[in-house]
Amino acid sequence: MCGIVAYLGDKQAYPILIKGLHRLEYRGYDSSGIAIINGNLNLYKRKGKVEELEKFVKGKDVSGTIGIAHTRWATHGEPNDENAHPHFSQNKELSIIHNGIIENYNSLKEELITRGHVFNSDTDTEVLIHLIEDVQENENLDLAESVRVALNQVVGAYAIVVISKNDNNTLIAAKKGSPLVIGSGDGEFLIASDATPIVEYTRKVVYLEDEEMAILERGKEIVLKSISNIKHTPYFQELTMNLDVLEKGGYEHFMLKEIFEQPHSIRESMRGRLRLGQGIISLGGITEYKQKLMNAKRIIMIACGTSWHAGLVGEYLFEELTRIPVEVEYASEFRYRKPVINEDDVVIAISQSGETADTLAAIKMAKEKGATILGICNVVGSSIPRETHAGSYTHAGPEIGVASTKAFTSQVTLLTMMALMIAHDKGTITNSRHQQIINALNDIPEQIEDVLKTTDAITKDIAAKFKDSRNFLYLGRGYNFPVALEGALKLKEISYIHAEGYPAAEMKHGPIALIDEEMPVVVIAPKKGNYDKVVSNIQEVKARKGKIIALVSKGDTEVRAVADYVIEIPDVEEMLVPLVATIPLQLLSYYIAVMRNCNVDQPRNLAKSVTVE
Ligand code: F6R
Repeated sequence: MCGIVAYLGDKQAYPILIKGLHRLEYRGYDSSGIAIINGNLNLYKRKGKVEELEKFVKGKDVSGTIGIAHTRWATHGEPNDENAHPHFSQNKELSIIHNGIIENYNSLKEELITRGHVFNSDTDTEVLIHLIEDVQENENLDLAESVRVALNQVVGAYAIVVISKNDNNTLIAAKKGSPLVIGSGDGEFLIASDATPIVEYTRKVVYLEDEEMAILERGKEIVLKSISNIKHTPYFQELTMNLDVLEKGGYEHFMLKEIFEQPHSIRESMRGRLRLGQGIISLGGITEYKQKLMNAKRIIMIACGTSWHAGLVGEYLFEELTRIPVEVEYASEFRYRKPVINEDDVVIAISQSGETADTLAAIKMAKEKGATILGICNVVGSSIPRETHAGSYTHAGPEIGVASTKAFTSQVTLLTMMALMIAHDKGTITNSRHQQIINALNDIPEQIEDVLKTTDAITKDIAAKFKDSRNFLYLGRGYNFPVALEGALKLKEISYIHAEGYPAAEMKHGPIALIDEEMPVVVIAPKKGNYDKVVSNIQEVKARKGKIIALVSKGDTEVRAVADYVIEIPDVEEMLVPLVATIPLQLLSYYIAVMRNCNVDQPRNLAKSVTVE
């Protein structure tokens, strides 16, 4: 949460910073701001989106070749102009941008107030820059040392960049808990919360480690040190990101683009791993820990939100294929509820961003207790992959729309491959069945292409009929229970319509009381497993005049006879249905949100990467 971007070089900083803020706006859009040095330290900030800031600075002096910029997701203090970043120090000579939470800001603030400091915002960030200045003045240190000494007094998480009006040649950055990546170009440096603002200027990057700081000076090499003052050698990496993925490519929204990208993103998740000819699945990233996974007494999936739904699909997959017991935990609950964790447990942490604070903390806790931790993440170089013992990237490509779409189907693809690989090696599946599922999985991208073609228009029609509904119910059984949860989450987060997902059979234990002629009920009802039971659940809804929107297998007649609307999906292996059934539900939510004039890519109150508890 919160996006940070900074520039130092020979180009004008403002256009680079603004473009960077647009790229990072998915991380928060409560307010944004910019500070650029050009003799003066010119600082402008505004409540609202980056475009509000752009309007505000029109005609003002934004010249200069060094600057910092920030887009905020509010934690301390409401989203207003005062609380927007950057923040000034007391004498307005220093300025800071910050992502994270300074937990002891209150006690630091009280102490600074006794020394005459006056604060203009409610933020923890302003306290930090006052503290840095206080250290600088009292201990007569240079900027980098002042930052270092101040950070040693801080409890909490931070990714910061600090500049000084009196030094237009230096950026100081540091991180703990929140991500920060530094790009090193030809005579220029960029710093950002992720690589997206950097990639078009340079592909050479360094990811800062926790409690590490960087001193970037014009014309000099990067200097890295720990906040305990030990010098580090920078480890440069090459960005492989393709620039096209950062643009909408003709789609109205990133979310729609990402929904339509799924055949490609799933192929990317499988590339080089699903080897059809050899009949094997090879996940290089976890080879070293494969035996551990095969011998696991228990697998614990930890994740939040949509990634947690992927974990639930993973539970069905692993238990059916590998016969290893699986628990799926909300990271936020798991980390605080004194769970029993043993050394022969394998934890699989699932996260698109790789930065989710609760998931990260749950990993650390389970690791301390001796469990093996594997990660399934999308963002390369993010914090979670660096905290796990091993893992596999989903390779879905950057997901910019705040509502997760392609990341989910790639996570499910990865979990399917992982479970198949372990089942094969453990012998809990026959060779022929293994080959059969591999073949079926390999066909999924093409089948999704088909689903996208055939369900786009119908989901739009259904959206038009139900866009004004106040509530929705989503029902599914077995593998499709998590799909129902995910469908409901997608709808509520982007259209602000209340929606609940339930295991279909649970409906009669309470939610059935909600059903009347106003209630749309989306039922995932492929002709698989518990089909007959799902048909009975549909009848129960119909008997109470609920409106049924059913996802059915191609050619289905039985549900069609009772449903108000049907959406056909291809007839695939039962365990692969989530991959195809999710697509029309994403489209349905998307079109409803668009018809309600909602901001699809940046829904209210949300941010893409949840780096606070
Ligand atoms: C929903 C959504 C969130 C995330 C959740 C976890 O569309 O995007 O529910 O799934 O915040 O985020 P990651 O996967 O980045 O750990």
